[in-house]
Amino acid sequence: MKVRAAKQGDLGWLLVLHSGGAFNRWIMRGPEDLQSLADEFSFKLAAQRKRQGVFVVVDVNGIGRGYGVLLLSLTGDSAHVEFGVDPRYQRKGIGGALLDEILRAGCRIGPKLKRVKAVCHQDNEGCIRLLRSRGFMSSAAPDIAALPYLSWHLIVDAGEIPACSPRFINGA
Ligand SMILES: CC(C)(COP(=O)(O)OP(=O)(O)OC[C@H]1O[C@@H](n2cnc3c(N)ncnc32)[C@H](O)[C@@H]1OP(=O)(O)O)[C@@H](O)C(=O)NCCC(=O)NCCS
Repeated sequence: MKVRAAKQGDLGWLLVLHSGGAFNRWIMRGPEDLQSLADEFSFKLAAQRKRQGVFVVVDVNGIGRGYGVLLLSLTGDSAHVEFGVDPRYQRKGIGGALLDEILRAGCRIGPKLKRVKAVCHQDNEGCIRLLRSRGFMSSAAPDIAALPYLSWHLIVDAGEIPACSPRFINGA
C-alpha cells in the first residue's frame, strides 16, 4: 500500500468508484452527473496545489483504491475531511492510513488548524468506527435538518508537534 498525492490521472478510477451503489449508499450527495464529479475533483486538485487542501490516494499494486481529502476553511482554523475506499479493499487499514495522512498533512499546511470536521451517515459503521478511533466526537446536538447524516469533529492541539498529533479534548 502506498499513499501519494492525487493527480489528474486519478479522475478515471475515482469516477468509477463514485458510480458504484455499494460505495455511494453512504455518501451525502444527490444524483450528480459525471461532469459535476469531475469539477469537484479539479477543485480538490487546485486546493492541493494552492496548499489550501490535501488530496491523497492509496495505490495497491499501482492502482488507486482509496482517496482522502482535507479542505481548509478560509480562515485556516478549521477543515473538512472526506475519504473513501473501494469496497473490495475495505477493512484492510486503507481508510485509517488515508485519514492519518490527511490529518498530518493538514496540520503541516494549516498551522492555525484547531478543528477538523467530518460528516457521516448515522448507520455507516465503518466510518463511525474509523472516526472514533482517531479521536473524533459526534456533535452533542445533531442538526435535525441534516439527519440521517451526523457531524463529527476532532479538536487538534497544534502545540503537540511533532506530527501535530490530533487528540481528544473531552467536552470540547
Ligand atoms: C469508511 C471507510 C473509508 C473505511 O475504510 P477502511 O479501509 O475499511 O477502514 P480501515 O480498514 O482503516 O478500518 C478502520 C476502522 O474501521 C473499522 N471498520 C471498517 N469498516 C467497518 C465496517 N463495515 N463495520 C465495522 N467496522 C468497520 C475497522 O475494523 C477499523 O477499526 P479498528 O481500527 O478499531 O480495527 C470505508 O468504509 C468507505 O469508503 N466507506 C464508503 C465511503 C464513506 O463512508 N466515506 C466516509 C464519509 S466521508
